[in-house]
Amino acid sequence: MRKAVIPVAGLGTRFLPATKATPKEMLPVVDKPAIQYVVEEVVSAGLQDVLMITGRNKRPLEDHFDKVDGLEAALAKKGDDKKLAAVRHASELADIHYVRQGDPKGLGHAVLKGRQHVGHEPFAVLLGDDLIDPRSPILPKMIDVAERTGGSVVALMEVPPEAIHLYGCAAVEATDDEEVVKITGLVEKPSPGEAPSNLAIIGRYVLAPEIFDVLETTGPGRGNEIQLTDALQTLTDADGSNGVYGVVFKGARYDTGDKLDYLKAVVQIACDRDDLGSDLKAWLKDYVARID
Ligand code: UTP
Repeated sequence: MRKAVIPVAGLGTRFLPATKATPKEMLPVVDKPAIQYVVEEVVSAGLQDVLMITGRNKRPLEDHFDKVDGLEAALAKKGDDKKLAAVRHASELADIHYVRQGDPKGLGHAVLKGRQHVGHEPFAVLLGDDLIDPRSPILPKMIDVAERTGGSVVALMEVPPEAIHLYGCAAVEATDDEEVVKITGLVEKPSPGEAPSNLAIIGRYVLAPEIFDVLETTGPGRGNEIQLTDALQTLTDADGSNGVYGVVFKGARYDTGDKLDYLKAVVQIACDRDDLGSDLKAWLKDYVARID
């Protein structure tokens, strides 16, 4: 597998007004934008070709992964090698391409925009605002399951029953591998009582190219958007399909498009850093002792 698609064309309404003129994927998590963690995850899984599905405000994303000659020259002149390396790292990470979504008609519609670039190969999809702790990666296992089965694979996480209505939800059967389940049905953002399990789809997918034909004929679903979950539901029992599998994720994951999860991501990632962790933890302990 060589290619990853990262949709970044959503409106980011949960984070307004910060996302009025800046994509939510560019919000800093400590000192890197969220999207850089996602591209680093792609590269760590051995994929080098990234297609971003962009919308309005795409400029900051393109600039971040491009060379900035003036800045690099200024840092080189100052002899600031550490910052120069950090700036260059982003532009040398991967081979990044961009395509515009046009109207943001949903995640399924965004993925369909990748059809021409991806062609007839299986590919990964990573949501650009969803961070997965690099100490517990899930993409390599998902790629392995996709290669073994020829099917599509989603990342699943157990969530409390009262939170399942915020996610796509999976009905599953066990397999020989306890980390892997076979998916028998999917519902996008189920209403109370409609959820077949407490297993939620999180923002990582490995998709067989047959998904594109299904997306072409998938109409608007929940929220009047073209839902990737609905297309995957069709693939669970379509003739000739190799089915859909789930890998159950147990590590740390943050939805940085959600304000509270964003704050948790910043605090936890900063606490784990050698340069900031001990000072921040000391301050946090003191702060927590002073609040109710
Ligand atoms: P979200 O539902 O989190 O994105 O979509 P959103 O619509 O921007 O968020 P809110 O609810 O308004 O705050 C998940 C991912 O899919 C992308 C988003 O950019 C995000 O990475 N997406 C969503 C698209 O690229 N296009 C779309 O039409 C919808």
